[in-house]
Amino acid sequence: MSDETSDEIKRCPVSHLTTDFGAPVPTNRDSLTAGPRGPLLAQDVWLNEKLASFVREVIPERRMHAKGSGAFGTFTVTHDITRFTRAAVFSEVGKRTEMFARFTTVAGERGAADAERDIRGFALKFYTEEGNWDMVGNNTPVFFIRDPRQFPDLNKAVKRDPRTNMRSALNNWDYWTLLPEALHQVTIVMSDRGIPASYRHMHGFGSHTYSFWNADGERFWVKFHFKTRQGIKNLTDAEATELIGRDRESHQRDLYEAIERGDFPKWTMYVQIMPETDAEKVAYHPFDLTKVWPKADYPLIEVGEFELNRNPENFFLDVEQSAFAPSNLVPGIGVSPDKMLQARLFNYADAQRYRLGGNYQQIPVNQPRCPVHSNHRDGMGRVDSNYGGLPHYEPNSFGQWQAQPEFMEPPLRINGDAAFWDAHADDDNYFEQPRALFRLMTPKQQEALFGNTVRAMGDAPTFVKFRHIRNCNAADPAYGAGVAAALGLDLEEALASLKDDPMYGSPLVALPV
Ligand code: HEM
Repeated sequence: MSDETSDEIKRCPVSHLTTDFGAPVPTNRDSLTAGPRGPLLAQDVWLNEKLASFVREVIPERRMHAKGSGAFGTFTVTHDITRFTRAAVFSEVGKRTEMFARFTTVAGERGAADAERDIRGFALKFYTEEGNWDMVGNNTPVFFIRDPRQFPDLNKAVKRDPRTNMRSALNNWDYWTLLPEALHQVTIVMSDRGIPASYRHMHGFGSHTYSFWNADGERFWVKFHFKTRQGIKNLTDAEATELIGRDRESHQRDLYEAIERGDFPKWTMYVQIMPETDAEKVAYHPFDLTKVWPKADYPLIEVGEFELNRNPENFFLDVEQSAFAPSNLVPGIGVSPDKMLQARLFNYADAQRYRLGGNYQQIPVNQPRCPVHSNHRDGMGRVDSNYGGLPHYEPNSFGQWQAQPEFMEPPLRINGDAAFWDAHADDDNYFEQPRALFRLMTPKQQEALFGNTVRAMGDAPTFVKFRHIRNCNAADPAYGAGVAAALGLDLEEALASLKDDPMYGSPLVALPV
């Protein structure tokens, strides 16, 4: 028995087995039978309870980001940003706030290997005195799509095929290549940063544009950045394949063991701040999730740091049942018109009510560390005092459940006609930022990008490969040429193939069945 296990036993002795309702269990090995050879008797209530509990142990896994690792930690403010936000979490330099973080892969299921080529989730929960603030980001500053109507399709394309139950390069790349705005994110995922060596060795990004509002009611647009203090470390495809062969839980192991040995991972938090009216002036769409804000225009402003310093005592309790949502905002931190973010504001809590039940906010890891007076009551699995005998309506004559107008957010300016605006017609500047990213890469990094793309495209059909070459070429001819050469395909033929592309020229291809 390890020292930890024996400490745990001393803290919480469980030497006597009881039923869920506290009655002693006389035997845990032998079932109640009529005679030594059976049959079983229905009055063996412990056997019934044990099997019933066992088959209910599994809860639905998250629809995406199912495989992940989590830890508790502390956020410390190191620089004053109160001119931008009134959020209590940033109220003074030196202030510390307890937090919980969960890092994930996206496409794989709960048992997937950690070292897969994929984006990584980077979800942070800050237990502030004015409520929980969740920063549910990724390790990339952009995303594949910019309209939430496409999100379920994106996930279908990257997850398993309905017929073969296998991941499909055809589905994945057919979809990605039909969305030219995805090239920025695809380039990042196929780059040398596409497989972080561990969760400790990657940056995090809020990705969306959010907003800050200060004590004077001024609004600023903001992007969040979290830079790893462990340095960036990545795996090549070959290293990842070898690692997965030995250890499917490499990232979980790395994070857990680092924290156990006291080597607490740290990240520095920065923000980019855009004055509210600049949004109408900048040359790019500032709320487009497929684009970054150039740091030359909006430099990183240091805010603070967080360290992860405590492993959960029980994975299911704290990690599996954790529920992060971009809608968990606090006074001083708001949203932007970004359509993707707007959809996330309702979809996460909806998923969590399904996954964890309507009272999921009472699960310890999700509970705010400040008083909660929501006046929502009852429901399945209510485990607090349920507000006892307090009045259950508002307004009432007893001064209960009073709204707090001093926390009113300043108006969010919106305008425009209601229509199903075409995400492509709105802004077709798909290639400028992937071009800039490609040109920032060293020749070695570009080679890695070409090789990773080829391996990821696998057995996708040629017309899909041609389409990707055309997209890459539109970003930079050297990008198109590099991918074509690595795929062993003719660049000129690829560039001339638009008319043969089933989506743009010739009739649709037959289904691949
Ligand atoms: C998880 C929806 C885009 C980061 C989830 C979950 C849903 C969801 C339903 C599972 C929640 C749960 O069961 O607890 C969506 C929709 C999106 C979107 C509808 C776009 C319209 C994004 C983007 C990011 C992101 C752009 C990052 C910038 C995450 C992370 C998790 C997650 C990190 C895992 C949270 C955890 O660790 O529990 N998403 N998502 N998602 N999503 Fe998204």
